[in-house]
Amino acid sequence: MRLDKFLSETGNGTRSEVKKLISSCGVSVNGKICRDPSAKISEETDDVRIGAAPVRYARYEYFMLNKPQGVISATRDGGNGKEVCATDLIRDKIRKDLFPAGRLDKDTEGLLLITNDGGLAHRLLSPKKHVDKTYYVELDAGMEHDAAERLMAGVDIGDEKPTLPCGIRMLTDSSCLITIREGRYHQIKRMFQTEGRTVTYLKRLTMGPLRLDEKLEPGDYRRLTPEEIKTLESFDSDKK
Ligand code: URA
Repeated sequence: MRLDKFLSETGNGTRSEVKKLISSCGVSVNGKICRDPSAKISEETDDVRIGAAPVRYARYEYFMLNKPQGVISATRDGGNGKEVCATDLIRDKIRKDLFPAGRLDKDTEGLLLITNDGGLAHRLLSPKKHVDKTYYVELDAGMEHDAAERLMAGVDIGDEKPTLPCGIRMLTDSSCLITIREGRYHQIKRMFQTEGRTVTYLKRLTMGPLRLDEKLEPGDYRRLTPEEIKTLESFDSDKK
């Protein structure tokens, strides 16, 4: 990879900023100052430094965020500049091309995977894949005793097709766990609206094989463990 691309991809400035840095003798490769922005370096093995500080490299990064309410599931580029974006909360990232793999409404909390692995995101999000997502739901009032059965069978929420069958476990008459295999716009809120109920609190707990770490408070995040990454990489919802 070119040295200027490497420095830019690792979040050290725009292409023109890093070119200036390189020509001002600010960058060394394996202990020698390098003034050529097009110099080819190996991101895995070469020791690239800005001044004395080594430049960290990662091809892919994976973070589990407990998205708090009030934060949008977008990147800075995808937001309108006024909102706090989910990727803003990840402070110690190396990559600058991270994005949220999937969307939660602004007022929804819970599990959001932040990564730059487009292939993995596609496998998790493709509508054809039908990946299970479980949410904890609180409602404004209790539901009728047969409402969960109607919702589980699939309901007309005003789209072309009714929702696919889903799983619901009532916890009280106004709170439940729901597992859906689609990701339509405001899907859960619209499903409960068909029963005349308003969702007052929504939190995502799982996405495919990934489970929200209970130790993460809203706004907290951590890197995925190597085991979690492996499970996601080998996850194929078609083979469930
Ligand atoms: N369904 C919703 O209504 N909102 C979400 O954020 C996720 C699923």
